[in-house]
Amino acid sequence: MDFTHHVLTYLLVMMACASSSSFNKRPNILIILVDDFGFADMSGNWSPQTVPSNTPYLESLADNGIRFVDFHAAASVCTPSRAALLTGRLGKRTGVTRNFSPFSVGGLPTNETTFAETFKSAGYRTGMVGKWHLGITKEFHPNSRGFDFYYGLPYSNDMGCSDDPGHNIPIGNPCPKDRLGEEDPTYPGVPLYYNESIVAQPVNQTSLSKRYAEMAVKFIKNEQDDKPFLLYVALTHMHVPLLYMDHFKNKSLNKGIYGDTLLEMDNTVQTIVSAVKEIGQEKNTLVWVAGDNGPWEAKCELGGDPSPFIGVWQKLEGGGGSTSKMTVWEGGHRVPAAVYWPGTIKGGLISEVTTSMLDIYPTIASLANVTLPGDRIYDGKDITDHLLGKPFPKDRVLYHPNSGALGSVPGDFGAVRVGDYKAVYFTGGIADCRGKLGKAESHHPPLIFNVREDPMESNPLDPGSKLYQSIYAGMKEAMIDINASLKNDNRTVADYTEDPNAKPCCNPHHVVCRCQD
Ligand SMILES: *[C@@H]1O[C@H](CO)[C@@H](O)[C@H](O)[C@H]1NC(C)=O
Ligand SMILES: *[C@@H]1O[C@H](CO)[C@@H](O)[C@H](O)[C@H]1NC(C)=O
Ligand SMILES: *[C@@H]1O[C@H](CO)[C@@H](O)[C@H](O)[C@H]1NC(C)=O
Ligand SMILES: *[C@@H]1O[C@H](CO)[C@@H](O)[C@H](O)[C@H]1NC(C)=O
Ligand SMILES: *[C@@H]1O[C@H](CO)[C@@H](O)[C@H](O)[C@H]1NC(C)=O
Ligand SMILES: *[C@@H]1O[C@H](CO)[C@@H](O)[C@H](O)[C@H]1NC(C)=O
Ligand SMILES: *[C@@H]1O[C@H](CO)[C@@H](O)[C@H](O)[C@H]1NC(C)=O
Repeated sequence: MDFTHHVLTYLLVMMACASSSSFNKRPNILIILVDDFGFADMSGNWSPQTVPSNTPYLESLADNGIRFVDFHAAASVCTPSRAALLTGRLGKRTGVTRNFSPFSVGGLPTNETTFAETFKSAGYRTGMVGKWHLGITKEFHPNSRGFDFYYGLPYSNDMGCSDDPGHNIPIGNPCPKDRLGEEDPTYPGVPLYYNESIVAQPVNQTSLSKRYAEMAVKFIKNEQDDKPFLLYVALTHMHVPLLYMDHFKNKSLNKGIYGDTLLEMDNTVQTIVSAVKEIGQEKNTLVWVAGDNGPWEAKCELGGDPSPFIGVWQKLEGGGGSTSKMTVWEGGHRVPAAVYWPGTIKGGLISEVTTSMLDIYPTIASLANVTLPGDRIYDGKDITDHLLGKPFPKDRVLYHPNSGALGSVPGDFGAVRVGDYKAVYFTGGIADCRGKLGKAESHHPPLIFNVREDPMESNPLDPGSKLYQSIYAGMKEAMIDINASLKNDNRTVADYTEDPNAKPCCNPHHVVCRCQD
């Protein structure tokens, strides 16, 4: 009797496993990119004991998965960062080294291959919700770059006017209501696309995060043909202007605009990830959350903490300039990241290994058994073993491109990371939020920091020391390596031509192209 009971239990367990949709199936991939997300915006990254969290849900994802504390953006401004995420290649290879504008004719070159294109060919259902910023004309639109479904903004939410002017510096950018007697705004109203159609212009940015969550949930729940899905969500938060639903007003712990926006962002992520659970796919879905680059120092005016990386830059920037977005300082490059995959990835892991947004494409491809195009060189690495808890080499080399600083060519490497050390070749040239511009300066020999011990970059090594000499030799080698790799690669040139006629406009009879859904 007892024996039969055990056998029965055993059989039931076996059947439960076999019928579960997570059994022997390629995983769903959910990538969530948070705009201008500073390292310490995820408070657990900085000091879990003392800093109150305005991102409680993200903290729980990280605590039940892997939290990366030395994870880097591939560039410190939107367009090149996103191009690198989608291709696994640096801007020097794809040609995408600076932002596209609302008048850009070109985009991410079409002979570069996005992960959406690869996954779609491999039978995945592909969707994107949010900010694209890799070209607006048909050829470069997300629907032409591998996404079956698209809902979002073609570029940043400050690249145009709005009917709900938000928190920006200077405050807001209101759209004129009528055509007559108006000044011509620089850009048209910020447009919202559903696939290839503009459905609202200017978009209501107050409710945008809510709509993103709804559309992402709709995509996730629209299961078809038992196909796995790949969904890329590129949130508007924390990019200025900051706007959010009244529901979150004064709900954050510091009751400021910045904290409230963080809280709405966190809630948006929760709504999206919960949909995966609701359809019973939580154990078959890899969720990867990351920032696209460091924060803009809007924080200093909007009630957030200033950038936590406050080291030597203060002196170098002569009281002006920035350590955040667009710089090669840690504040520009080191971003929050976490991977959550219950049942496959053990919870509670904190990874101090140097990793990059460039690693996402090779890693998800490997997990999904999808092959990357072989006729080019990738800067990203497959870190599957690391996700699964195996040791990973610590001598990673990363190149940080100039992402908009004056006085240096965009895409050229302003800093190089080898293991624990980082050489900084270029400083200054980026204004802080009060408009102060640090002096653009080249450093030959470079400043070298041990960013493992000194993440604030406060104490450059003494150039006369033996340690400096040996580290510097390694840095020079790394530069020679990348030069050789670039020379041997199939590289692309991106078209940065601008034409006012290329702008997205759903109503050419109105000065800001106004139309509403
Ligand atoms: C967007 O495209 C997808 C895939 O073609 C389609 O299923 C969906 O209905 C389209 N949506 C709209 C609003 O055109
Ligand atoms: C934008 O959406 C919010 C929230 O739904 C609403 O309160 C506000 O009136 C809308 N703005 C405009 C200009 O319609
Ligand atoms: C938020 O708090 C501030 C300061 O305490 C107050 O002036 C404001 O009215 C509050 N806003 C809301 C929506 O509760
Ligand atoms: C991966 O794909 C290859 C070739 O298509 C196939 O032989 C192999 O079984 C697949 N592996 C897994 C784990 O699905
Ligand atoms: C570049 O493309 C050519 C032609 O497609 C190919 O033969 C070559 O192997 C590629 N180079 C690299 C580095 O993959
Ligand atoms: C690498 O190439 C760049 C650009 O061509 C050049 O300025 C630099 O000197 C090269 N560095 C090394 C170490 O060869
Ligand atoms: C893309 O096209 C350009 C121009 O035809 C070529 O030089 C480059 O090698 C191509 N890049 C890739 C990745 O194939």
